[in-house]
Amino acid sequence: METKIFKLELENIDERIIEQAAALLKQGEVVAFPTETVYGLGANALDASAVAKIFAAKGRPNDNPLIVHVHNKALAEQTAKLNPLAIKLMQAFWPGPLTFVLPKQAAVPACVTAGLDTVAIRMPDHPVALKLIGLSGLPIAAPSANLSGKPSPTSGSHVYNDLRGKIAMVLDGGASGVGLESTVLDLSGETPAILRPGAVTAEDLRPYCGQVLEAQSQTDKAVPKAPGMKYKHYAPMGEVLLVEKALLLKAYRENAALGGKVAVLATADVAGLAELPLYYPMAAKDDPMEAAHNLFAALRWCDEVGAETIIVQAFPKKGIGKAIMNRLEKAAAKK
Ligand code: TXA
Ligand code: MG
Repeated sequence: METKIFKLELENIDERIIEQAAALLKQGEVVAFPTETVYGLGANALDASAVAKIFAAKGRPNDNPLIVHVHNKALAEQTAKLNPLAIKLMQAFWPGPLTFVLPKQAAVPACVTAGLDTVAIRMPDHPVALKLIGLSGLPIAAPSANLSGKPSPTSGSHVYNDLRGKIAMVLDGGASGVGLESTVLDLSGETPAILRPGAVTAEDLRPYCGQVLEAQSQTDKAVPKAPGMKYKHYAPMGEVLLVEKALLLKAYRENAALGGKVAVLATADVAGLAELPLYYPMAAKDDPMEAAHNLFAALRWCDEVGAETIIVQAFPKKGIGKAIMNRLEKAAAKK
């Protein structure tokens, strides 16, 4: 299959291109599109054979459910059974990087939810995504648009490199703003629970819902975990080592002495790193938001340069730092 890629100017979006993409979605094809978190690989969520093409293109295990993307409340209601708390949180955080897990509507086929009786839904904060969903008039099932196991894509070229020849179209809207996948909040149990940390934090949510469980405080009984979190993710080929900022240079020297290609990913305020042969500045200064924005591009760069050992700066686990460390700890998990 030939994969078409179109660059879009966000200030002046060419609607004819989005109309072509929407037509493909209505025909049961798969289209990649930008969101504020990462790129999504979309198909009509109500069409099981279209959804099957997503799993095939990504090589995704079929027990890992998808997020359904909507552009208004009516479409959310067609997909999930909303409750008062969900509606309050949608008003506060949508469009934005917050996904809700709620009881599903019967119209959603089992392949979208991997047989669960809940469905994940989100309204992305991106003009191209919202226009695409609006023009198609459909709820759009979309996981991140990477090959399964690779870091999520935060640019059109990341998607194209992974999925060229396997999907009909890529809408290239430039770099994703947030750079990490959405927060997944389970609202199907007694107490709201964060299944995957993201840019919207427990601190952001508490004023609206009181108690919020976070991954560390969850027992297996209390909440069903996001099935996708059990798979190896975000992993470059090399071995990832998470190292405190003050010890980065020391860790580099020790590992470089053992031989092999050693890369360092860190913020640019750490002295002595810029001169190293394989160094990727994750942010100009000590700014975890900017580091989050650049993280997946940095991990993909490690594969491009053939890094065998990858030393990555550890971030304090607060604010977006929790989401960064969640992804990095997965990347660092032994193969
Ligand atoms: O930011 C994002 O969320 C991006 C963009 C494209 O919207 N999407 C994304 O999708 O990251 P994906 O498929 O890569 O991750 C979806 C996560 C997985 O961990 C999956 O297991 C979980 O959400 N999930 C989906 N449906 C669920 C459900 N019914 N119950 C629990 N977890 C669910
Ligand atoms: Mg993913």
